Amino acid sequence: MHHALITGANRGLGLEHARQLLERGWHVSAAVRSPGDAAELAALPVGDGKLDLHAYDAADPDSAAALAKAVTGPVDLLFANAGKMAPETRQFGSAAGAAMLEEFKVNSIAPLALVEAFVDQVAASEMKVIALQSSRMGSIRDNGSGGGYGYRASKAALNAIGKSLSIDLKDRGIVVLTLHPGWVKTDMGGPNGQLTVQESVSGQLDLIARAYGNPVMSGRFYHVSGQDLPW
Ligand SMILES: NC(=O)c1ccc[n+]([C@@H]2O[C@H](COP(=O)([O-])OP(=O)(O)OC[C@H]3O[C@@H](n4cnc5c(N)ncnc54)[C@H](OP(=O)(O)O)[C@@H]3O)[C@@H](O)[C@H]2O)c1
Repeated sequence: MHHALITGANRGLGLEHARQLLERGWHVSAAVRSPGDAAELAALPVGDGKLDLHAYDAADPDSAAALAKAVTGPVDLLFANAGKMAPETRQFGSAAGAAMLEEFKVNSIAPLALVEAFVDQVAASEMKVIALQSSRMGSIRDNGSGGGYGYRASKAALNAIGKSLSIDLKDRGIVVLTLHPGWVKTDMGGPNGQLTVQESVSGQLDLIARAYGNPVMSGRFYHVSGQDLPW
């Protein structure tokens, strides 16, 4: 049975990833801030899959190492999905501050800490795929509207981290995907998003399936449609 670890799996895209992977018979280790409050996640139909919930706070730099002690065995898909968009850091004039540091902790440093903590378990797996949930807003070339200082910069940092990981982990057979899920109807994406979580996640899982054993996909920044995005 393939095994995925997904952060931020209690709502939005992470919850739907957990749901669709369970439907495909995977073992899902779901890492969430408050396992006791994750009712929707805990109620997912498990079918032939397996679900376990773990406490994880992306803003705490020690949390990934603690998680790696609790989640044992090979991890075929390590999915750093948890993310934060702080309204305080959107506009020029008052963006630089504590909220921006939190965005960097959650969006940039936490995914790297997760990979550092789990790299041996990913290398020991059959699929060896790492997915980083980035955003098109982290693309510098694609920025035509300005603003979004904390979110854009922290996702751009994540993109740089993903590229380095793809180079550093290549010899271990690990494929690193940096992904944009599309503009999706979630709490973060809002009701005007262009995709449902079901559509976005099934597209992302198709990309992940293609990445298995396909090192030319590593170190690239993908739109959920499969197109390469500019850095
Ligand atoms: N929706 C879009 O249009 C869109 C577009 C581009 C990229 N993305 C990216 O996709 C990912 C998922 O976003 P979403 O749309 O599903 O947003 P969402 O519905 O707001 O969910 C965000 C998830 O991240 C978790 N999270 C936030 N801070 C955390 C922390 N400190 N520790 C652990 N978990 C934390 C949340 O947990 P809590 O419930 O505990 O807060 C929640 O599970 C994010 O990385 C986001 O940047 C989304």
